[in-house]
Amino acid sequence: MNTYAIIGAQWGDEGKGKITDYLSEDVGYVVRYQGGDNAGHTIKFDGKTYALHLIPSGIFRKNTMNVLANGMVINPLALVEEMSMLNQLSVSTDNLLISSRAHVIMPYHHQLDMLYESLKTDKIGTTKKGIGPTYSDKIARRGLRMSDFVSEARLEAHLDESLPFINTLLKTYGFETFDKHSLLHQMKPIQDQLAPLVCDTSKRLNGALKNNDKILFEGAQGTLLCIDHGTYPFVTSSSPTAASIPLSAGIPPQALKHVMGIVKAYTTRVGEGAFPTEIFGEKAESIRIAGNEFGTTTGRPRRIGWLDSVALRHANRVNGFSVWALTLLDVLNGVDSLKICTHYTLNGVMIDELPASDEDLRRVEPVYETMQGFSFDNKNIATYEDLPEAAKVYIEKLEALTKVPVGIVSIGPSRDETLVRPEIMGKHFGGACDD
Ligand code: IMP
Repeated sequence: MNTYAIIGAQWGDEGKGKITDYLSEDVGYVVRYQGGDNAGHTIKFDGKTYALHLIPSGIFRKNTMNVLANGMVINPLALVEEMSMLNQLSVSTDNLLISSRAHVIMPYHHQLDMLYESLKTDKIGTTKKGIGPTYSDKIARRGLRMSDFVSEARLEAHLDESLPFINTLLKTYGFETFDKHSLLHQMKPIQDQLAPLVCDTSKRLNGALKNNDKILFEGAQGTLLCIDHGTYPFVTSSSPTAASIPLSAGIPPQALKHVMGIVKAYTTRVGEGAFPTEIFGEKAESIRIAGNEFGTTTGRPRRIGWLDSVALRHANRVNGFSVWALTLLDVLNGVDSLKICTHYTLNGVMIDELPASDEDLRRVEPVYETMQGFSFDNKNIATYEDLPEAAKVYIEKLEALTKVPVGIVSIGPSRDETLVRPEIMGKHFGGACDD
């Protein structure tokens, strides 16, 4: 099977967009299968920087089909805006398909997101994009799917049924309410624009599987934000894991072959929740600045911490990674000494797992191994072998602690700042990107 998954191993923002773009050169399909415009994937090439929130990172390749699959929640207003931003930059969006079964984020979902957050004592710190309320509607079987959104009559019937309840709820707590006719008027041009792209994407992907076309699944967020395996309740409302792909894209589970974990050389987190290896002060600030660690979607400063191998082993356990792509190694340039968390203690007892309870996770004490820092100039680094010895020792420590080999090391945002280890990619990742 010619299928490849790219999955974040931490709390998102691991650099998945760059790696997807890098690997998508000869790919037939790039598929986003979960989440919505809470994601922010930054891609840099030819001196330009693109920030994508909904559209898969393969959109820049003319011969690649880009799929928004059934497991996604799609804000149609944000989608047409993103398409128009790309079109203005001369990037075509003709190679885009939207699943008729994907759920739709309507403007009232944003208000509900704010309402639910306002009622919580321990706020999640959501992106306020309406993600949780839309997935809640899906699970409660009162959601709106793309197939119904693009039909004027069905959208009206949906609003007739759902708006009275939603407006009552919003009004009770002093939030903005919505008028059916204004919503229908607002959505009309968007329905017309998106309708031709809406189809049974599962059927298309199964056809591609039969053809042995190369398919790349682009995860959004990261495993620690997974609704099942993440640091609940401070998570998103979907599952970015490899196991989610068959369900969320409509392909058989055995069709998924190669799974790459994307791991940042340190750890970041946006929003609230436990973060055992979090650091503060000057070192955190210098890493935040060097890594431009501010949310692509919300602009919030990201929290910074050391690499956490307990969390990474957990991510590997639930995903079964074939290889790592290690990103943002260059950000650690010049940091005098580095730490990697090898395990935790809880109540004085050594533990090697992420506790399920957020309360316990807040109380764990990370146990660190201190590593020598490194410094390199990208101009002098053409291959993995050119990296300084201390950087290679750091990478080997990650491999030893997780038992997953590192196949790609990213040392900068551009496509040409990517070091590939062909022997590892050949052996563990089906030889993708032999170049
Ligand atoms: P939601 O997905 O907007 O409901 O937010 C839930 C949690 O996931 C919050 O802590 C967000 O900051 C976090 N989150 C959602 N999407 C991303 C992402 O793409 N990168 C990093 N964190 C994210």
